[in-house]
Amino acid sequence: MLKQIGIAQNRVDGPMKVTGEAAYAADRRPGGQLYALAVRSPVAAGTITRIETAAAKSVAGIVAIYTHANAPAALDWHADPAVMALSGEGLGRQALEAAEPEAPPPYLPMTGPDIVFAGQWIAVVVATSLEAAREASLLVKPIIEPHEASVEIDARNDRFLEPGFFFAADMQVQRGAWPDTAAKQQIVSETYRTPMQNHHPMEPSATVAVWDGDAVTVFDSTQGVMATREYVARSLKLPLDKVRVISAFVGGGFGGKNQTWPHQALAAHIARALGRPVRLQLTRADMAVASGHRSQTEQDVALQAASDGSLTALRHVSRVPTSLHGNFFEPSGLNSLMLYEAAALGVRHHVVRKAFATPTPFRAPGETPGSFAVESAVDELAHALAQNPLDLRQRYIPSRDHYHDRDWSSNNLLECYRRGAEAFGWPEGVIVPRARRDGHELIGVGMATTAYPAPALPAIVRLRLRVEGKLQVETSATDIGTGMYTILAQTVADELSLPVEAIEVRLGDSNFPHAPTAGRSKSTASLLPAAQHAARALLQRLAAAVREPLSELSNVALQDRLKAAGLAELEAEGSSTGLQVGQQVSFYSFGAHFIEVRVDEALGRVSVTRVVSALDCGRIVNPKTATSQIRGGIIFGIGMALMEDAAFHPTRARMINDNLADYAIPVNADIPEIDVIFVGEPDNRFNELGVRGLGEIGVPGTAAAIANAVFAATGQRVRNLPITPSAIV
Ligand code: MOS
Repeated sequence: MLKQIGIAQNRVDGPMKVTGEAAYAADRRPGGQLYALAVRSPVAAGTITRIETAAAKSVAGIVAIYTHANAPAALDWHADPAVMALSGEGLGRQALEAAEPEAPPPYLPMTGPDIVFAGQWIAVVVATSLEAAREASLLVKPIIEPHEASVEIDARNDRFLEPGFFFAADMQVQRGAWPDTAAKQQIVSETYRTPMQNHHPMEPSATVAVWDGDAVTVFDSTQGVMATREYVARSLKLPLDKVRVISAFVGGGFGGKNQTWPHQALAAHIARALGRPVRLQLTRADMAVASGHRSQTEQDVALQAASDGSLTALRHVSRVPTSLHGNFFEPSGLNSLMLYEAAALGVRHHVVRKAFATPTPFRAPGETPGSFAVESAVDELAHALAQNPLDLRQRYIPSRDHYHDRDWSSNNLLECYRRGAEAFGWPEGVIVPRARRDGHELIGVGMATTAYPAPALPAIVRLRLRVEGKLQVETSATDIGTGMYTILAQTVADELSLPVEAIEVRLGDSNFPHAPTAGRSKSTASLLPAAQHAARALLQRLAAAVREPLSELSNVALQDRLKAAGLAELEAEGSSTGLQVGQQVSFYSFGAHFIEVRVDEALGRVSVTRVVSALDCGRIVNPKTATSQIRGGIIFGIGMALMEDAAFHPTRARMINDNLADYAIPVNADIPEIDVIFVGEPDNRFNELGVRGLGEIGVPGTAAAIANAVFAATGQRVRNLPITPSAIV
């Protein structure tokens, strides 16, 4: 019987976080710690001819300055392709390999004189205080011969690459007979654009490296301690067991901390060279260039429909940039592969190299910008056909996953539409633009569909029953703010019939059992089955030790049995296998957003005033943390729709808003009540509990629902995000 799963349990780590007891990476203060800060390139392209460091070296407290001139020898710091393959620079390499056999060599800062993007780290200063490091970093003077740099996508003149597989999906797909355009068809064919976005988690990335003999402990802000351990160990040429990575608390990680980055290894290299602990802290400006971003996209979407509205063709062509040396690109067409019942389908991606820092995953990478384009186009089609957009979308629910040629494990999208529309009060019939006004404000409603895959990877969870104290749960997984501490406690509590308070969850330590990186919404489905198995294994071992069957015992009773068996503690592990190759069904989550906006036409100001989202994400383990995840995703979508835009200087190709004063994100005043409805049933073909991850599904569709609502309010179709006042007035 499930007593804890399904309960809106408060976060078990909440009190630690609000009292400051939770130690984040940069909170670690090992004795004798040195402070390292980077110096960034002021130009986007060029060659460093010299770096003047004399003035910086005269700052009191300065210990070392590293540049490409001394870092390779002094730090054993080299761009080893095998190591780079483990880093963010290597992500997506496979997808571009066939398209670009002459791929540029991997890039690592401070290994050569070439500048390949503005903000690139060209030096690192190390001092006895943060203030001294800061002062010295401002006095380092690079002499650079600048080159031309381009950060603009030019659809006609750029050289585009045709990538292969990404996230296990073929990025170039053509299926079905293309309809004769002369036939009686409704056609929407438009280009949509989304901006570059920075992750900017509340906790900026930082690494504190502490050596003890030939082993190093790395306190880091990462979504994956195991991946970070491997990267750091390979960079230092150490066996894995000589590197320990700890990331017990993460102040947000939206994909930027999903990859590994040079700073994580660099801190350990510097600490080794100087024989003292080193803290390498990224500033807010560093976060904009040295921990990834979502790239801008340009997407052509063409929809063709018969007069009854049935979709005869969907074409989705994306032009997206990657950096000059990296590989990740935004796979905008992912959901177009499977989300629409279209007779003919064409999905293509074209990738161009530009003088940017390398992009990374960013909360529902691909699905998010892709859904803005296609879900806007579906709304345009509904208006062209004089149909209600909800009615039209109901026709497009895919009967099965045609792309993977499998049935859905479950698909309750229709129920999401029904319950969301009912709770929102979605209008019937044709939506007439500019039909509702309240004083100086126009009011409009819009909707959009969201979908996100439900992956799972192998994971191990260890339990430790002790004669005294709480039952310990250990796994190397991280809780990036999602609630993993809490739902693991709930799962183990249910299996052992204990209260949540009897359980202590310990996460984010590479000495704990293996778990995947927290990303692509897979942690819940990877870890909870392992926790269940661990709890059952523990009961079996205890039963064997005391030679009696065990069930429905309190923690004290479990501890009494342990004592009776003459044991101080008892450990048990449980594992999950993740998804198996050759699975017969397709695991996805689905949902629909219903959004109301008010638009002040005189000021061009758009306010989101109501949001109802109905989602099918399997069994909900904790309605409180799950609702928070979806709300967070929707707030991401509101930021994308109305505010966020990493902007570049038109001639200097450098980001002009690499700070939180100029890079606008939503604040509380921008966010209305967000009503989240979970309609899903347990997905028991996925795992015994029927749970799926839901970290990202709130993001896709939100920006389209807002843009569609803006159209309903004003009659203006905005196809370029963000929808700033100048798009309205
Ligand atoms: Mo996920 S793109 O790591 O937020």
